[in-house]
Amino acid sequence: MPSVCFTLFSVLLIASLPNFQGYATSDLHIRSSSPFSVALETLQKQLGYTFKSIHLLRRAMTHASFSEENNKALSILGANVIETAVSFQSLSKDIDISSKDLNLIIAEISKVESSCTGDASRLGLQKVVRVSPKTNSSAPSVVCGAFRAIFGAIAIDAANCDAAGKVFWDVHGAKLGVALPF
Ligand SMILES: *[C@@H]1O[C@H](CO)[C@@H](O)[C@H](O)[C@H]1NC(C)=O
Repeated sequence: MPSVCFTLFSVLLIASLPNFQGYATSDLHIRSSSPFSVALETLQKQLGYTFKSIHLLRRAMTHASFSEENNKALSILGANVIETAVSFQSLSKDIDISSKDLNLIIAEISKVESSCTGDASRLGLQKVVRVSPKTNSSAPSVVCGAFRAIFGAIAIDAANCDAAGKVFWDVHGAKLGVALPF
């Protein structure tokens, strides 16, 4: 009986192997050659973070106008990651900071028109994010949504928010040439 089992198993394995290999090879080919995949590779290098699940970054760089699988919910998590990172750092530096001052700092960093768009443009997200033909990929709401979604995607990929907060500081602080921007 064991040999029958083994034979059956071998036959099944061999029968399924060509399909599996065919799928893996073509999938790899698509991933490594499309401009979008190349852009995702570059973006990971810019972020200094390599995704275990690249589909999360793929989703983060997909606007709701492009497909039902998009970055909307990830950008909510990302916005929260950013607010948490900013609040944590502000209170770590000054435990006596007023709620008014803290809210001002959070508002400033979350403003679509200023810091968010700047950070997103520096990463060139307007050239990466996938949108429908009618959507302007440079629109602040589009690039900011994608920018925030990156940190939601990292949090899910790393299964914690600290890694995402660190990447945020690296990216946000980069414009000043310092690690911590305040
Ligand atoms: C797209 O949005 C950017 C940023 O708001 C703007 O400067 C540009 O003119 C827009 N392009 C088109 C074709 O509307």
